[in-house]
Amino acid sequence: MKPSDNYPKGDLKPTDKNPMASPQHITVIAGDGIGQEVVDATLQILDAASAPLNWVHCQAGEACFRNGIATGVPEDTLATIKQTKVVLKGPLSTPVGFGERSANVYLRKYFGLFANVRPVKQYPNVPSLFKDTPIDLVVIRENIEDLYAGIEYSHQPGIAHSIKLISEYGCNYINTFAYEYAKLTQRKSIHCATKANILKKTEGMMKRSFEQLSTQYPGINAKHMIIDNCAHQLVVNPSQFDMIVTTNMNGDIISDLTSGLVGGLGIAPSANIGQDVAMFEAVHGAAPDIAGQQLANPTAMILSAIMMCRYIGMDDVADTIEHALAKTFYDSKMTGDLNPTSALSTNAFTTAVIERLGDTCPGFTPSSFKPIHMPPISTPSIQPGTCHGIDVVIISDHSPTDIAHELNRIATANGCEPVELFNRGKAVHSPEKDQMISQWFCRFTSKHPPFDNHHILKLVNELSEHYHWAQIEKLCTFNE
Ligand code: NAI
Repeated sequence: MKPSDNYPKGDLKPTDKNPMASPQHITVIAGDGIGQEVVDATLQILDAASAPLNWVHCQAGEACFRNGIATGVPEDTLATIKQTKVVLKGPLSTPVGFGERSANVYLRKYFGLFANVRPVKQYPNVPSLFKDTPIDLVVIRENIEDLYAGIEYSHQPGIAHSIKLISEYGCNYINTFAYEYAKLTQRKSIHCATKANILKKTEGMMKRSFEQLSTQYPGINAKHMIIDNCAHQLVVNPSQFDMIVTTNMNGDIISDLTSGLVGGLGIAPSANIGQDVAMFEAVHGAAPDIAGQQLANPTAMILSAIMMCRYIGMDDVADTIEHALAKTFYDSKMTGDLNPTSALSTNAFTTAVIERLGDTCPGFTPSSFKPIHMPPISTPSIQPGTCHGIDVVIISDHSPTDIAHELNRIATANGCEPVELFNRGKAVHSPEKDQMISQWFCRFTSKHPPFDNHHILKLVNELSEHYHWAQIEKLCTFNE
């Protein structure tokens, strides 16, 4: 069915400033693999709980890629999301070898869904290595920048670069979101997890932003932790964590780890939050290995829908469903990923939850989630920097000695220090070509900065006579 077929035109109440209006229209994307099964289960439960919601079914993912839509998301799906502003989405598989990178990443970027909120909480009786450890934490993952900016290059077969793009604006945005989230949900501490010790400019920017903003939130205990130690600490002492804020790639990995602490991907929900649009989805993927077999655990999707209900102000519906879900686990009713010996099918588990709607689970406290009203985040103004040199990537099979000799001649002729040569990120000191590849980073530093465009073009022209260059990067300093 096309979205327009079941879309009551002119009757979309919950737009712009009034997301609480009832009934709320929700864009539903079933997705790929187990998507249909877990989304069907979730809608059945929401309907059984009399959630005043209208579903607007749309398409995205594998079938769309196959139909030649390069992004994996058709225009009418985008148009519908712009109107409903709230999306409940099943997993979308990422094509390998055709189409664009990922329909998920496309949706996140298209709607500026800058924050990925991934709560991690124990449910009664759910088996895990940590079932007796109190764990109730939230991972906030930056959702747009970093290696997911998708800026990748290959200047020759067998060698590729990817740009790790981090902006102060993006860091301030996600860190402010994390602090505001902590304030609103009464969480006491946030760890910012980065690799700032090695990636000083990119990950370092995230750390600096987090520490600078901490002065505005004196009630929240703000600590920085190196991401690898964070992974270790999560396993040896997960209870110390209340919230973790981190960059995109770190967050992707660490949030799969945290879901493993409480039972696995089958029970890990998430919310993708933007200024205007919010999209709720399970952390897990399309699980093609179990698709269509009634083996999928719909809990992650159900918990994502619970987050959605809280986001649109339907806390009563959320509490009812979360208690019913917790009571289902309390009664030891689970799918096979959690308990292989008494495994319920997806449908049987869904029925068990529906049968418990209205029950209260003993000793269970439902989770909290609320829309965050972000204070304005200013865009940093452009600062003219001083260029003091350039990095040039050249492709050459010559020996390190020959390259250094030729480049030093060019450096001297252009008022630069002796050239610094790097191969695979390592400074080249020896004439041996052992373990080196044919791509060289050559750093030219001017003896008399500024090194303006005129100097750069002259140097590159001379270089071009001898070498194939693939990339040039200006080296700048700023008054920070
Ligand atoms: P996956 O999360 O789909 O599966 C990993 C393992 O967990 C599999 O053994 C699977 O059977 C199991 N599993 C996942 N969800 C489960 C559930 N609800 N119940 C029971 N078992 C479950 O990860 P994989 O295999 O790396 O990715 C498959 C596809 O999904 C890929 O195309 C990937 O790009 C895509 N994907 C999509 C995501 C999204 O839409 N947000 C997120 C992650 C992956």
